[in-house]
Amino acid sequence: MEYDAVTEYEPDDETLSALPQTGERDLETTLRPRKLEEFVGQPRVREQLELVLESARRRGVPPDHVLLSGPPGLGKTSMAMIVAAELGAAIRITSGPALERAGDLAAMLSNLAPGDVLFIDEIHRIARPAEEMLYLAMEDFRVDVVVGKGPGATSIPLEIAPFTLVGATTRSGSLTGPLRDRFGFTGQMEFYSDTELELVVRRAATILDIPIDRDACAEIARRSRGTPRIANRLLRRVRDYAEVRADGEATRAVARAALAVYDVDELGLDRLDRAVLSALTRSFGGGPVGISTLAVAVGEEATTVEEVCEPYLVRAGMLARTPRGRVATPAAWEHLGLVPPADPGRPEQGGPSLFDQD
Ligand SMILES: Nc1ncnc2c1ncn2[C@@H]1O[C@H](COP(=O)(O)OP(=O)(O)OP(=O)(O)O)[C@@H](O)[C@H]1O
Ligand SMILES: [Mg+2]
Repeated sequence: MEYDAVTEYEPDDETLSALPQTGERDLETTLRPRKLEEFVGQPRVREQLELVLESARRRGVPPDHVLLSGPPGLGKTSMAMIVAAELGAAIRITSGPALERAGDLAAMLSNLAPGDVLFIDEIHRIARPAEEMLYLAMEDFRVDVVVGKGPGATSIPLEIAPFTLVGATTRSGSLTGPLRDRFGFTGQMEFYSDTELELVVRRAATILDIPIDRDACAEIARRSRGTPRIANRLLRRVRDYAEVRADGEATRAVARAALAVYDVDELGLDRLDRAVLSALTRSFGGGPVGISTLAVAVGEEATTVEEVCEPYLVRAGMLARTPRGRVATPAAWEHLGLVPPADPGRPEQGGPSLFDQD
């Protein structure tokens, strides 16, 4: 078995990662859309949310709890903040991993004012006791605080203000049933189309005062992996290139040259994506192969491969999930400049020549 993919993937190359980079947070805040109508793309989630929020506003009650799910960088945090802004409510922000003990959550909940929005990021990582406390809080706006230990322990019911929980997750599948059921509305965020990303890029260029033409916007959009966070980042790299190596104006030629420097391929696949495809085709003959084996081959956590990388490869038509494991599609082989086997997914029929491609 060859594991050549390991050497190809350098985790510190972050230009194309859908995850936020260190020091990028402030910039992300600047670029975050503040209102629903300013939010580009996600027409379905936007329309559904608009109805949920407007109806609650008319009835004068906090809206149902909202779950936002989807891969990193598609705008879940932005959307959570918009929910609060549209309601004219304050937002308290925490995350699943921060709620290790039920007491942490109880403190958070008891400090809420009526109508506040509580945003729990990465809600699938919430600890069990906190999660159980959340059930009652979401349903009855009440928590039971346990005082003392053993047989003498008593539970004191505590009223909390009616609030709206907004949860965000990159893994809605790993939410427990009872938690998922308590959300009145789930917004499934999808990858953005090139046209939508073009608007994202143009909007960011205006805010950051970057001179860029239409073609350059389109070029960046096309290579952004369907993800606004990446689009905004590539825009900044193109700006750098335009300022240092050109006359400051970002044209298509400048954008192409800049993206080549940063090793962004025509489809915007990042190194991890390419490492996964490379392992899948070169090392495993196209699959099927299990996600954990694949993750080991590229030296990454299985969850990263599954949550960050796989959704886009599936959407780009390069990788298929089958009951027996992950399979490379003919498009994956072609993208890597390899010849797809006659019957993909059955390496034994392709013969040993499959492994001789490079
Ligand atoms: N629809 C959009 N229009 C314009 N910019 C957007 C949009 N969605 C996201 N962005 C930009 O992309 C960046 C990432 O968005 P956000 O932080 O909301 O993503 P996320 O889904 O919460 O990611 P994560 O899963 O990593 O927390 C932000 O800087 C934001 O400005
Ligand atoms: Mg987020």
